[in-house]
Amino acid sequence: MACSAISLSIGTISALVAVACLAIAFGTDNWYEIRVNRTSIRQKLDGNEEAMNEFEENIRYFDRDEGLFRICFPNNKPQNAKTFLSPVLTECININYYIPDNEISDAFSETRWERLRKYRI
Ligand SMILES: *[C@@H]1O[C@H](CO)[C@@H](O)[C@H](O)[C@H]1NC(C)=O
Repeated sequence: MACSAISLSIGTISALVAVACLAIAFGTDNWYEIRVNRTSIRQKLDGNEEAMNEFEENIRYFDRDEGLFRICFPNNKPQNAKTFLSPVLTECININYYIPDNEISDAFSETRWERLRKYRI
């Protein structure tokens, strides 16, 4: 009997910890922290107008923290990005997981579709 009481207690505590971890996972935006050395990239792009425009607008050239639902920019944010202020006061955008049915997605290889399906499990 004592053994089942102990295992029941451990199970209950583990369940509470799991729920707490899940809540933290859904609530935070720090699953990935990506830091970009913009100084170094700017030096390499020197003078190329088109590349400089992309450098200022594409999110891949900015420091960012990625969560399940949002990408947040702790320092600079991309030009023209429609950001909103997160509860911790960083500029964020929502991640759009929807893949439209168009000529771009038609060109996805079978391997790429398989990879996307496995990401979503
Ligand atoms: C960024 O790149 C510049 C130029 O390459 C370098 O001097 C600097 O140390 C780098 N900064 C970081 C934080 O790595």
